Parts: sequence; structure tokens; C-alpha cells
Amino acid sequence: MMVRCTAALFLLALSILSVADGRHDFLKLPSEGRRLFGSSPVGAYDDSAGTKWAVLVAGSNGYENYRHQADVCHAYQILKRGGLKDENIIVFMYDDIANNVENPRPGVIINSPHGEDVYKGVPKDYVGEDVTAHNFFAVLLGNKTALKGGSGKVVDSGPNDHIFIYYADHGAAGLLGMPTSREIYADELINVLKKKHASGTYKSLVFYVEACESGSMFEGLLPEGLNIYATTASNSEESSYAIYCPGYDPSPPPAYDTCLGDTYSVSWMEDSDSHNLQTETLKQQYQLVKNRTASQDPDLSSHVMQYGDLKLSAETLSVYMGTHPNKDNHTIVYDNSPRPSSGVINQRDADVLHFWHKFRGAPQGSAKKFEAQKQLAVAMAQRTHVDSSIQLIGKLIFGTDKGPQVLNSVRPAGQALVDDWDCLKSMVRTFETHCGSLSQYGMRHMRSIANICNAGVKKEQMGEASAQACATSLPFLGALSTAGS
Ligand SMILES: *[C@@H]1O[C@H](CO)[C@@H](O)[C@H](O)[C@H]1NC(C)=O
Ligand SMILES: *[C@@H]1O[C@H](CO)[C@@H](O)[C@H](O)[C@H]1NC(C)=O
Ligand SMILES: *[C@@H]1O[C@H](CO)[C@@H](O)[C@H](O)[C@H]1NC(C)=O
Repeated sequence: MMVRCTAALFLLALSILSVADGRHDFLKLPSEGRRLFGSSPVGAYDDSAGTKWAVLVAGSNGYENYRHQADVCHAYQILKRGGLKDENIIVFMYDDIANNVENPRPGVIINSPHGEDVYKGVPKDYVGEDVTAHNFFAVLLGNKTALKGGSGKVVDSGPNDHIFIYYADHGAAGLLGMPTSREIYADELINVLKKKHASGTYKSLVFYVEACESGSMFEGLLPEGLNIYATTASNSEESSYAIYCPGYDPSPPPAYDTCLGDTYSVSWMEDSDSHNLQTETLKQQYQLVKNRTASQDPDLSSHVMQYGDLKLSAETLSVYMGTHPNKDNHTIVYDNSPRPSSGVINQRDADVLHFWHKFRGAPQGSAKKFEAQKQLAVAMAQRTHVDSSIQLIGKLIFGTDKGPQVLNSVRPAGQALVDDWDCLKSMVRTFETHCGSLSQYGMRHMRSIANICNAGVKKEQMGEASAQACATSLPFLGALSTAGS
């Protein structure tokens, strides 16, 4: 009975979510249409003088987010094999996966169903509470004195050097998540990149981002001329997708009840694992990853995007990732066969999927079953709470008819999410004061909060609406999430 109830709850939750996501479909404006590849491709070139640096960031923690740290560990193995030195690869990861009690293979992390251990040898530069936006910025800027904790490694780069940054986690309109502390806001990230450019300490920089709505980190924000080329897993208004998930095809080994990777991420990494990095260009990888990430079903795929100085995409992958000794003579063979669309799941549902599989797999009456049931209940209650609070706030401020319209509107491609970032941050704080943390799932409402700012709403008005909307629901939620733990 309980099992059936929870299953129904899970299915109901997913159907509600997909309806909610569907609201964007008619508004989708893929901005790549406006962007040209550059009039005549100059052909591949490998300008690999200078030192190659890399910063790898997994922005989550928790076993239900296994895949982000798996992605980042895999990226490390590619760069290490490519010839980058550990002193030039800086890794941010919470490091609670390999030795997690839920991990069926202690001390080992895999990033695909038949994959090898990717955890071996990964430097633990910034782990646990040291995985912060503050340290990430300090590392990028090469500012050792600003660091708080960690190994002290920074990008101590010079004018001829190349920098590769790869980030994997949950994100939202205008921000990228971090495990325990403040998120990375887009305006702050862009300012740090501008500062790094102004310091003259790199020749070119490539930034790969896996997160929901990751295009919003650069859309209308990253100018040309900084010698930065960025690609993102999704455009600025859609989810990105997890892959190798339990119950999906291809699925992880039976003992795993969590997703092993993310679609955009494993697409670029499995490509880098199988091709000659000295001849394949960034642009070729972008196209290949874009194709693989876009499965046939438009409701189950994201649009991989590119931003910044697109001319840099003529460079070979080896400029950033080094070489692949076993693939030196390999020529690219594109695989255009359509991928099954059943294989991926919206990143925002991957935690619920994990709790559900954990619940289903645990013995009847066990502590593990009870724990999973509670995790599922709390996750669902939080979702309902945050979704309904935001909707109610919209109606209180703008009226019943206009509320949903204002909250759901999306600015045209090329325009940044919000004009006043301080307003956005302050509105988020106001919401959280009255309604509790947005948390991983609730970040999906960042665009609505940005729209409240764009409409010129005053902080006091937001405070009153939030207090009213959350007066009764928040205490209930607090009691639920602490009960029985
Ligand atoms: C490095 O960080 C410290 C502390 O935040 C700051 O005072 C200093 O100005 C920074 N140095 C540079 C070169 O940005
Ligand atoms: C991507 O898909 C398009 C359309 O199906 C195809 O023309 C193109 O060759 C593919 N590119 C790659 C790199 O697979
Ligand atoms: C690549 O080709 C060269 C020249 O034909 C050959 O000497 C080398 O062993 C080959 N490398 C690999 C990894 O097959």
C-alpha cells in the first residue's frame, strides 16, 4: 500500500514537473540562430605554447548527486592522461561519494555503466566546506591570500597560458550551485573573468558548464574580446539532463540506485576519450556534443549553446586537454545514429529518482527503507511548498491573472536575466527569510524572482507577500524535515 502510494506520488510529481516545464516550449528562442561560426573557418590549429591550466568544479554533495563528482573526476583523468601536471589541475569536489556508506564499490567512482574507476589519483585541493564560490574566484584570479582553506593551489598563470574550466552541478537562471555555501552568481562570475582578462594572465580560456539553465550564466553577459569561449549544457531557460540512471537505458550496474553522469558532460568526455585531441577542434566537439545531448524527444533534451569568442573554437582540443597517446592516428568518425530518448532524466528529478530506487530496493521494515521514505516525503513536500509559495507571491503582488504571466515570462535571447543583480540577490534573501531555503530544487524559480525585480517591485512589497504566502506552510515543512532523524 505504502509502496503504491509513494510510486503514485513519484509519478504524479514527475508529471506535474513536466507540465510546469512545458510552459517554456512556445517561448523557446534558441539564440544560436543569430550566432555565426565566423565567416570562413581558419582550420584547426594547435597553439600549445604556454602552460595548460585546468579548474574542475563539482558544485554538489550528497549521494543522490553522485554524478557531478563522477563527471569531475572523469575530467581529471582526461587531463592527466593528456599530460597536464597535477600542479596545474585544481579540483573542487565535496568528496563525500567514494567512501559514502551508500556506495556499492567503496573507494571507487565510475562515470558510466562499464566505466573504470575515475576517482584514483584525483587531487583533493578544495574539499568539503572549502568548496566555495569565494575560493573558486580566488583560485581563478591566482590570489593566494584570499583563499580560505584548501591546498593553496591557484591558477598562477602567465600571458601565454591556456585555461580550461569545467563545472558540473545543479544551476538555475543566473546562478550555479555550490555544496554548502553561497552560489556562484552570473554577474560575479563575469566580473571575475573580466578581472582575470585585465590582469593579462592568459592567452585563451575555455569554459564548459553543465547545469540547468546554464546558458543564463553567459547570455547577454559574456562580451566578445575576452578570449573566452564557453559552451553550456542547456540554453538559459531549460533543464540539463542526467544519464546512466537506475531504471533507464543504459542503466548503471544493479547495485547503483543513483545516476552516474550528466548527458552533456559524458558526451564531451566520452568524445575526448575516443578521439585524437590533436586534430579534433573545440567546434567539432561542440557539434558532436550538441547532437548527442539533443535526443529525439524535444521534452527530454537540452540545447547545447556556445558563447563568447567563437573564433577560438577553431583551436584543437589538445590546446586545453593535452593529447591522447592511444588515439594519435585516429580520425573522427561521426556517429549520427539517433540515441534512444528514454535514457536521460531531468537533473531536477534525479534526487527523487534516487530516493525512490533506494526506497524500493531496501528490505521491508529496515532503517534504510524508513530513511528513504522520509527523504522522498521531505523532497516532495519541499517541492510543493516552494512551487506554491512562489506562485502565491506572484498572485499577491501582480494579481491572480497577471501573476503567472509575469513570473513565467522569458526575456528575448541576447538579453541578460536581470538588470539589477543586487535586487535579485536581495529578493532571494527576502524570500528565504520568510519561506525557507530555495534549495537545490527551488532554484528553478530564480527566473520568476528576477522577473519580480524587472517589474520594479520594492523589497518591502516582496517581504509582505512572502510573509503572507509562507505564514502557515513553513512551520509545517520544518517539522517534517526534522521529524524522526
Ligand atoms: C587578493 O585578495 C585579498 C583579500 O581578499 C585582497 O585584499 C587583494 O586585493 C586581492 N589581490 C588582488 C591582486 O586582487
Ligand atoms: C549533427 O546533426 C546534424 C543534423 O542531423 C548533422 O547534419 C551533423 O552532421 C551532425 N554533426 C555531428 C558532428 O555529428
Ligand atoms: C601513428 O602513426 C605513426 C606513423 O605511421 C606511427 O609511427 C605510430 O606508431 C602510430 N601511433 C599509434 C598510437 O598508433
